[in-house]
Amino acid sequence: MKHTRIIVTRYGGPDALRVVEEERPEPQAGEVRVRVMAAGVSLPDLMAREGVHPETPLVPFTPGWDLVGMVDRLGDGVSGIEPGQIVAAMPISGAYAGFVCLPRRELVPVPSGLDAAEAVSLVLNYITAYQMLYRSAKVRPGQRALIHGAAGGVGSALLQLGRLAELEMYGTCSSRGASAVSALGGIAIDYQHQDFVEEIQRLTSEGVDVVFDSIGGTHIWRSRKALRPGGRVVAYGLTGSLRGGRLASGRGGGRHRYRAIAIFGLYIAGGWLLPGRKRVVPYSIQTLKRLKPAWFRQDLIALFDLLHQQKIKPIIAQRFPLAEARQAQELLGNGGVVGKIVLVPNGSGPESGAA
Ligand SMILES: NC(=O)c1ccc[n+]([C@@H]2O[C@H](COP(=O)([O-])OP(=O)(O)OC[C@H]3O[C@@H](n4cnc5c(N)ncnc54)[C@H](OP(=O)(O)O)[C@@H]3O)[C@@H](O)[C@H]2O)c1
Repeated sequence: MKHTRIIVTRYGGPDALRVVEEERPEPQAGEVRVRVMAAGVSLPDLMAREGVHPETPLVPFTPGWDLVGMVDRLGDGVSGIEPGQIVAAMPISGAYAGFVCLPRRELVPVPSGLDAAEAVSLVLNYITAYQMLYRSAKVRPGQRALIHGAAGGVGSALLQLGRLAELEMYGTCSSRGASAVSALGGIAIDYQHQDFVEEIQRLTSEGVDVVFDSIGGTHIWRSRKALRPGGRVVAYGLTGSLRGGRLASGRGGGRHRYRAIAIFGLYIAGGWLLPGRKRVVPYSIQTLKRLKPAWFRQDLIALFDLLHQQKIKPIIAQRFPLAEARQAQELLGNGGVVGKIVLVPNGSGPESGAA
């Protein structure tokens, strides 16, 4: 039986993506074959396609950090899981496919009755937001937070979880995202027309307790200026290295996994040397998952519970059929997207995770 898979044929723009039809993969011993119901589309996918994300595989590869799907076939020696069960995983690459084979230990059960696209939003974006709030920043009710890229996938997750944590929130966004940021409880700051450091000083007088910086580079140092003494910047992204979904530097075409991360490290270390009682700490979901796999599982289960109780509601910007992965990445790269773009291999409608 055949399935559809997307491959990145070379490092570069959206035209490097190809749709292939091929035989479904067979699970090896200890693996489970999963029929993908929803795969997330995120900026790290675009950065891997461009060859600059630290997790970029060798070409050709299938992109896709996060997925929700149905258990389809068990490899030898697999127990404790049944065909038909709904599961989530973060393979980092490979999710843009009709079927994937993954080690049993990578799968986290999804409670029944959840929409697959909403559930997949929790895997990369909400865990990132949740772990930064509670494990990196250790926020407390009443604290002030500045969230950059607040209308985006991770940004909107930070706003929803920050509201539950009773934070006072400020969020940078373009004018296209301002109403969404306000609706999620943040005070919107238009990064294209306002200086966020001046705005934070004007609105709070002493600065914020924490800044979540997804932009990177010298932006981390500007974020530091928005802190009150004793505050911290959690630096976690390199959105500033992309323009229109392509490398802002224009120097693409190769696999440069450590270039961006080395520059990122330099700016973080620079932040430590600047005067003032202000800290800059990095966050990486994949590093923390490797170091503390139990936290990843525990935090995802906590988030599924919040979704089940309708305490959070991921914003689905758009659902695309799998074969339109290129259009999905182009839309994300062009900007102005509010929430998460999701690929739904079997069509474009909401897909229930009810088993
Ligand atoms: N460290 C980790 O573990 C981890 C995990 C997940 C994601 N990330 C990183 O997090 C970042 C966001 O990912 P995502 O998938 O959520 O992307 P996204 O959905 O595209 O969101 C990015 C947002 O940033 C906004 N933006 C762009 N330039 C900005 C600027 N100079 N100031 C303020 N906002 C700006 C965009 O607004 P407009 O389009 O309206 O301009 C967009 O809403 C990426 O850098 C990604 O690599 C890191």
